[in-house]
Amino acid sequence: MIVRRMQKGEAEACEQVMRSLPKLFGIEEAIVEYAQACETMETYVGVESGRVVGFVTLNQRSPVAAEIHCMALRPEFHGKGLGRALVDHVEGLLASRPIEFLQVKTLGPARPNAEYERTRGFYEHMGFRPLEENDLWGKDNPCLMMVKHLTCPRPSRAGQ
Ligand SMILES: CC(C)(COP(=O)(O)OP(=O)(O)OC[C@H]1O[C@@H](n2cnc3c(N)ncnc32)[C@H](O)[C@@H]1OP(=O)(O)O)[C@@H](O)C(=O)NCCC(=O)NCCS
Repeated sequence: MIVRRMQKGEAEACEQVMRSLPKLFGIEEAIVEYAQACETMETYVGVESGRVVGFVTLNQRSPVAAEIHCMALRPEFHGKGLGRALVDHVEGLLASRPIEFLQVKTLGPARPNAEYERTRGFYEHMGFRPLEENDLWGKDNPCLMMVKHLTCPRPSRAGQ
């Protein structure tokens, strides 16, 4: 799989990736919002044999914090290292920016769900840590905020 910047017109392909995962993307408004975000935010796609099989959308939340706004891979490509390739790609890009924290929000454990348990396991394995679970998405969809501290250049002492 190659990872590259999403090109104009490929948001539809990202939407199709989400639609291939009905157990994870079951809320129509959320799919539409995430697909629109692919156009307006920095998005990278994973391409296999010329076809978009996954994507990751990045959002800068503060001068020092970025967020994985959405990320998904077609189900037949799960568990093959492609999720790691997408995360490694964005972390590689962020390494040349003054970004210290990478955040991701996902469904929290207060609402048991086998699919999202796997998703949380993936993020944990990739170095993200649970920060808090809150009701940002309403009481029925507990939102787990996870964060990863990215290494950043240490400032030199004044005058040196
Ligand atoms: C979550 C998702 C992007 C992960 O991608 P993936 O290609 O399946 O994951 P990878 O195969 O790249 O796994 C990367 C590493 O995480 C580990 N890992 C994956 N799931 C894990 C789990 N549940 N628990 C512990 N480790 C896990 C893998 O063993 C692998 O380890 P390694 O690289 O050290 O050998 C993908 O499964 C997906 O699209 N899921 C559905 C959509 C989704 O949940 N999106 C997030 C919405 S917030």
